[in-house]
Amino acid sequence: MLPNIFHMLIFRNCSIKQYNTFGIDVKASVLIEYEHDEEIIRFIVSHQDKCRQVKHLILGEGSNLLFRDDFYGLIIHPVGKKLDLVNEDENYIYIKASAGYIWDDFVEDTLNSKAFGLENLSLIPGTVGASAVQNIGAYGSEAKDFIFELEYLDLDSHEIKILKNSECKFAYRTSIFKNDLKNKALILNVTFKLLKFPNINCDYADIQKYFNNKTNITAKDIREAVINIRNIKLPDPKKFGNAGSFFKNPIINQEKFEILREKHEDLRFYSLADGNYKLAAGWMIDKLGLKTFTHKGAAVHENQALVLINKTGKATGKDICELAEIIKEKVYQNFEIELEPEVIYI
Ligand code: FAD
Ligand code: EPU
Repeated sequence: MLPNIFHMLIFRNCSIKQYNTFGIDVKASVLIEYEHDEEIIRFIVSHQDKCRQVKHLILGEGSNLLFRDDFYGLIIHPVGKKLDLVNEDENYIYIKASAGYIWDDFVEDTLNSKAFGLENLSLIPGTVGASAVQNIGAYGSEAKDFIFELEYLDLDSHEIKILKNSECKFAYRTSIFKNDLKNKALILNVTFKLLKFPNINCDYADIQKYFNNKTNITAKDIREAVINIRNIKLPDPKKFGNAGSFFKNPIINQEKFEILREKHEDLRFYSLADGNYKLAAGWMIDKLGLKTFTHKGAAVHENQALVLINKTGKATGKDICELAEIIKEKVYQNFEIELEPEVIYI
């Protein structure tokens, strides 16, 4: 049965400047915005021949995408905002949220419902669906620590499938949706296993500094701290278009790490449990004096060198790609490290 209230809008040959946080002004042939899963499933099934012929893209808030050209194909844009408490036991609350739910609204809503765990992930732009695609992370937490399972529409067979956390192949900024299931799955909703009793995590250096030995810290204090820290460091996409960290922090083995450390005593890094090292790419770019470096309409952000911005508001995807290439080249020449974009090129 289809719900009574429909919210499915179909736009043709439309600008998607408002649908990507870089604010790149390109067009899409067709963009479908939908609220209820039943609507989009019915649409995809009834137009299956056409859907199979055209290129498609699932678009959340477009906060991790870089459009290099007009998109000749179908964009599917979930905006449903449904939240269900599906189960609870002595220690955990299981909350299921629709893919289109805005991530930070979800974090706030869970904390207001006394379901804890997501506070360190406050203020990350984007949607609940996308949080699982790249396993969002910040300030010592990752989405994978709290995702219980998720439901997706298999875009080949049109079956609805469930994946448990362990089947999602989560790792640093990646999941099965960026590999085996790339372009093959429309995530419909994600169920999170949240804590009834908070487990405060203030290990990240910026958070420790913020609290300055304060005790009795609550999950809401952490949310406030993370919001304040992020507002200082990261540019607001409404002011300067951006997609957060442009590159991933590279992971290297002990041997390579020791060689680099010898050359750069002040190298910023995190030791990983598997014996490898994660390097702070922002530090490397900063060290090369590239903060504020400008190329055409694009620039390196003045407070966080890992963030590239649409400085003029008129930068093209190509301008930003070119800037990224210049940075990659300089980092390679100086550190022999190959930076890999975190942002997805479209
Ligand atoms: P989009 O950018 O629209 O899409 C991202 C990918 O997910 C695409 O491949 C898309 O096809 C796919 N996708 C989206 N929805 C679905 C779905 N329902 N089903 C299947 N596939 C889907 N990221 C972090 O990890 N940590 C941070 O601290 C962080 N800080 C940021 C700060 C700023 C200012 C900005 C602009 C970005 C930041 N990001 C950060 C990156 C970004 O917020 C995340 O990658 C976010 O999860 C993207 O969500 P989105 O809805 O905008 O996805
Ligand atoms: N640093 C500099 N100069 C800079 C930027 C960073 O010296 O211009 C140094 C910092 O002083 C710090 C270290 O590099 O010692 C790390 O910096 P920061 O704490 O700002 O974090 P990051 O490694 O640059 C990562 C994530 C962010 C996430 C923050 C907080 C990646 C690619 N980025 O950034 O995620 O919010 O940690 O956890 O892992 C994103 O993915 O889009 C994103 C913003």
